[in-house]
Amino acid sequence: MTADTPVKPYDIGKVREDFPVLHQEINDHPLVYLDNGATAQKPRQVIEVLDKYYREYNSNIHRGVHSLSEKATGEYEAARNKIKNFINAGSLQEVILTSGTTASINLVAQTYGRANLKPGDEILITEMEHHSNIVPWQILCEQTGASLKVVPINDKGELIMEEYQALLSDRTRLVAVVHISNALGTINPVKEIIDLAHAKEIPVLLDGAQAVPHCPVDVVALDCDFYCFSAHKLFGPTGTGVLYGKQALLEAMPPWQGGGDMIRTVRFNETTYNDLPYKFEAGTPHIAGVIGTGAAIDYVTAIGMENIAHYEADLLAYGSEALSHIDGLTQVGTAKNKAGIMSFVMDGIHPHDIGTILDQHGVAIRTGHHCAMPVMERYSIPATARASLALYNTRDDIDALVEALQNARKVFA
Ligand code: ALA
Repeated sequence: MTADTPVKPYDIGKVREDFPVLHQEINDHPLVYLDNGATAQKPRQVIEVLDKYYREYNSNIHRGVHSLSEKATGEYEAARNKIKNFINAGSLQEVILTSGTTASINLVAQTYGRANLKPGDEILITEMEHHSNIVPWQILCEQTGASLKVVPINDKGELIMEEYQALLSDRTRLVAVVHISNALGTINPVKEIIDLAHAKEIPVLLDGAQAVPHCPVDVVALDCDFYCFSAHKLFGPTGTGVLYGKQALLEAMPPWQGGGDMIRTVRFNETTYNDLPYKFEAGTPHIAGVIGTGAAIDYVTAIGMENIAHYEADLLAYGSEALSHIDGLTQVGTAKNKAGIMSFVMDGIHPHDIGTILDQHGVAIRTGHHCAMPVMERYSIPATARASLALYNTRDDIDALVEALQNARKVFA
């Protein structure tokens, strides 16, 4: 947060009113939704935009001359413009609309990666990556003969930066790092990571799935080469996401999927491709989803990303302190620079049992390996229980979590 950015508290009661799903009982308890790392709830402003699209102007985009298609195209491209401004991309050409973070990373692997990597080359990732930022690179390594190098983490769940520097080599062709870890909550020093890689002219991809809903992201200030995120964790629809890429890199990359919208001309002896960003947007996209993403961006922008980050940091401090007083509970991921993700294990209770008992109290959390099995292996545990925060959570939610965990302890005592 910059010193000249004022932080304004927002009206949490009003914000909660905007989220219809929060106002219900689960197992005779008010719902306490703490599974925002998996997917966030949607405000009525997003739901209404989806409803309006299907009721009033459902139509395909970039294809029709009729009024509904022109309206749909206009709204779709207006959403792209909102995304561009939200992450401060340099141009609309740099905003590729995908089905989510996973698709964005796979796109880079299969276009940039296949075009640029050869046997002996290296891709550098970290031990705290989500499977979506591991497996696409493993597939690429099988296809190209390149190899994967992994930066280790310390016991707190922080990257060991000396190891990162040592692993950045003359053979490294790409660094792919998570901005905020979904399993540990660690906020990585991404600016430093990028600067060190760029000093060796190595491009950097950031997996921003868990960052974009919780803090301001400025791709120009970061100077990242690729940035990937999903709409559904940002209070928008599922099946929609973004790949930001620097224009020169995207221009040089071959297309990935072939089909409608990504072509200029098709003949059996020669096909030519469309300009950016459409070159990477084959097939009819999730039109309502993208328009809904625009509405979600309007929503969080009105609150202010700095304000959201500040609010969640306070809530995380309250939650971490509260969890530290529960006997037999160990927090997993205690990085100094952390976002609102609290992973933990409890003596004598499997995380899945914790999740089930919490559900009986109306408290929704995620349990398991969180699609980050190497993180579990690092701590020699099969799984964790994970409470993940969003802008609408409150200290009351944390208190309900703690009470339910105390109950779980009693049940298993
Ligand atoms: N990657 C999402 C999570 O962390 C689904 O839960």
